[in-house]
Amino acid sequence: MRPLIIANWKMNPSNSKEAVDLANAVAKGVEGLEADVVLCPPFVYIPQILNTKYQIQVGAQDCFWEDQGPYTGEVSPSMLKSLGCTYVILGHSERRQLGETSIMVNKKIKAALLAGLIPVVCIGEEFEEEMKIIFHGIKNLKLEIKNLVLVYEPVWAISTNPGAKAVTPKDVKESVAFMRSIAKNTTILYGGSVDSKNVTEFLGEDTAQGALVGGASLDPKEFIALVKNAALV
Ligand code: PGA
Repeated sequence: MRPLIIANWKMNPSNSKEAVDLANAVAKGVEGLEADVVLCPPFVYIPQILNTKYQIQVGAQDCFWEDQGPYTGEVSPSMLKSLGCTYVILGHSERRQLGETSIMVNKKIKAALLAGLIPVVCIGEEFEEEMKIIFHGIKNLKLEIKNLVLVYEPVWAISTNPGAKAVTPKDVKESVAFMRSIAKNTTILYGGSVDSKNVTEFLGEDTAQGALVGGASLDPKEFIALVKNAALV
C-alpha cells in the first residue's frame, strides 16, 4: 500500500524562512519513499514552498466557494490551483469551532472539485449525519467522488485539545469501514495525535490509507520518520 500522508501545519511556523526550511528538510527526507506526501502550509507560504529546490506536493488548509469577487479575506480554489496546489483541507474541526457549517463545507467541496483540486474533507464523530450534508448534490454535479479524500478525525483526538489521545486502531478500522460503506472508492485517512511511533497501527488495506498529521508535521525529523514508517506498511 502506498499511504497518503498530509501535513497540516495549521498557523505555523511563524515566518517564511522557517516555513521554507521545514519544507526543504521534509521534501529532501521523504524523496523516493513509497508514500505520497502533501504539505499544507498557511496560504502566505504556498508560493515559496512550491518554488523550493525539492519537489513536494502542496495543498491549502481552506478555500472559499466562489471563484472571484467581493469576498474580503477569502481565497478561491482556482487561485490555489493556478499556483500549483493539488489538495485542499476542508471542514477541519478547528474551522468548524469558529463557525464553519457542513453546508459551507459542502459548497467548498463542490468548488474545489470543479477547480480540479482534491478536497481533504475532515469528518468527526457524527459521520453519518455530517457525510449526508457534506456530500449533498455532489453526485448531481457528476463530480468524481474518487477524487476526494476523507479524514476520520474526532475533535478529542487532536493533539492540542485538552486530554487528547489517539483513537484506538480498532475504532479507526471500524469507523473507516463505516465511512467506506457510504463513500465507496474514496481514500480515507485517519487524523488525531498521529506520530512516528503509532502511525503504522492505523494504516492498512482494510483500515486507513494514510494520515492527516498536525503537531508531528512541524518537526522535520519526526515527520520524516513518520513517513518512513508509514511507507513500510
Ligand atoms: P494533530 O492534529 O496531529 O496535532 O493531532 C491533526 C489535525 O488537527 O489535523
